Amino acid sequence: MFKDKKVLTGVKPTGTPHLGNYLGAIKPAIKLGQQALEADGKHYMFIADYHAINAEKDPAVLNRKLQEIACIYLAAGLDPSRSVFYRQSDIAEIPEITTILYAYTPKGFMNKAHAYKAAVDKNREAGKPDDDGINMGLYTYPTLMAADILAYDTDIVPVGKDQVQHVEIARDIAGAINAHYNRPLLTLPEYSIDNNVALVPGIDGRKMSKSYGNVIPLFEDDKAIKKAVYSIKTDCRPMEEPKNPDEILVYEIYKSIATPAQLQEMGDGLREGKLGYGHIKNMLLDAVIAEVKEMREKYNYYMAHYEEVEAMLEEGAAKARPTAQATLKRLKDAVFGR
Ligand code: ADP
Ligand code: TRP
Repeated sequence: MFKDKKVLTGVKPTGTPHLGNYLGAIKPAIKLGQQALEADGKHYMFIADYHAINAEKDPAVLNRKLQEIACIYLAAGLDPSRSVFYRQSDIAEIPEITTILYAYTPKGFMNKAHAYKAAVDKNREAGKPDDDGINMGLYTYPTLMAADILAYDTDIVPVGKDQVQHVEIARDIAGAINAHYNRPLLTLPEYSIDNNVALVPGIDGRKMSKSYGNVIPLFEDDKAIKKAVYSIKTDCRPMEEPKNPDEILVYEIYKSIATPAQLQEMGDGLREGKLGYGHIKNMLLDAVIAEVKEMREKYNYYMAHYEEVEAMLEEGAAKARPTAQATLKRLKDAVFGR
């Protein structure tokens, strides 16, 4: 699937990630990147900091979130000597390309984009004017994202369901430009959705999300992780009563982290009435700590030596820029008839 392909992933710096973010987004993104590299493809991974300023205006908070996200990806195994790892705002060609793309972006695309529509719906629910608090950055977000993608001749963009529409918009804009100039100036990107990625439930059974306050933390100490795991909702049936594992929240969360053999062991224990809730919570806790232990150490190291990370990001930008420069030149030559 990735043979000689260019795969690009963007990530918004949004707060300290939890187990759901890690298992549902960070780990799969790094794995896909590795698969692309093994298939002689290329992997671009960037932090979408221009996207973040639409919502976050405090420089100290922005800077902190950017540092956290950079350190997390490195701690989780992203190899910056193989993947091109950079910050969006270090690539000056991106806003220039965006300006050209605007001229080929129907305004209707932006009206229909999910992020904008969701913000309008929220205003309507609150009885406010449609565009209350909505800035142009949020409104035109998909065109900037199209520039992120098209600048590097990206073939494949791994995304969650919510981002599919944005990749389709990028593809449509590229198609319109290629058709107008009657030559393949831009590569048409495709999205890829990983259907094996599970939605991790939180400790109250709803989707794990920082907005629900039901998360299992990743980078806090063992005590905090234990506290979260021990608070996972259970009922008061006795251990001996045989149970259907699929109805048990601890087991549901375990599914996204355990090996098949570990999962089998927990499932059998529940079905046969041999494992109680205390046992299975300890099994989950051990699995979570085993998964995060090394990563947490690396994360703490990078946060304490951020100058090393800064140097990696700058090196990444230097590797990424020539391709973006070439795309911008191709576009300008075509657009201005040079
Ligand atoms: P949150 O819901 O905590 O605010 P975000 O919306 O910032 O999380 O999500 C960041 C990334 O993590 C997205 O790619 C999203 O699909 C993924 N993600 C978030 N929550 C989960 C979850 N519970 N299970 C799997 N993936 C998740
Ligand atoms: N919009 C993406 C998100 O909210 C982040 C992003 C920005 C991105 N530019 C991108 C993702 C380009 C993939 C490709 O998660």
